[in-house]
Amino acid sequence: MTPDEKKKAAALAALEYVESGWVVGVGTGSTANHFIDALARIKGKLDGAVASSNATAERLKKIGVPVLELNATGDLPLYVDGADEATRHLHLIKGGGGALTREKIVAAASRKFICIADDSKLVDTLGRFPLPLEVIPMARSYVARQLVKLGGAPALREKFTTDNGNVILDVHNLKILNPVELEEKLDHIAGVVTNGLFARRPADVLLLGSDQGVKRVT
Ligand code: A5P
Repeated sequence: MTPDEKKKAAALAALEYVESGWVVGVGTGSTANHFIDALARIKGKLDGAVASSNATAERLKKIGVPVLELNATGDLPLYVDGADEATRHLHLIKGGGGALTREKIVAAASRKFICIADDSKLVDTLGRFPLPLEVIPMARSYVARQLVKLGGAPALREKFTTDNGNVILDVHNLKILNPVELEEKLDHIAGVVTNGLFARRPADVLLLGSDQGVKRVT
């Protein structure tokens, strides 16, 4: 199977968690896009969706799913999204697509977070994938200096502005042995809006597409 076929298989498996009359949170990226395509088959079942990015909102509207504001829905029963890296402890790195802040908000407001991915995303230790941080533009250099002190090598994501009007620093060379601690530490740097570690609120279920079928990690 190609990585894309594995992503699609994981996305289809996530459909089983969707119940009638629900408003579901929908993530961003190529795997989440497969989930949106799959939702088209059952869209009559849904009351709507909350999107984690403008791109996802557009895609949901195209298939006829009503896109609702999180402020209007209250907590959600389910959030489905991809990841850039995942561990067996269900800690994630996200934000490769730059949508990490809204993704973290929707994950926080959801009772169940299903992460869908191909099995190449499973790692023993997070950090091979550069950790994205959304940063207020005027704080870019200050934040970068603090990241260097922590042993990271930050790089500005060129020609990229987030849906919230901010920049992304991708932090290389981090070997993340304690993701919960690092997530908290990075959130305390002035000017950091969000970091791409999802460890304090990890996924609840990881569905991994593989040559042997979809593996479920809980
Ligand atoms: C978007 O900001 C990310 O968090 C995505 O969830 C992540 O980059 C996974 O993307 P793919 O599904 O395209 O691999």
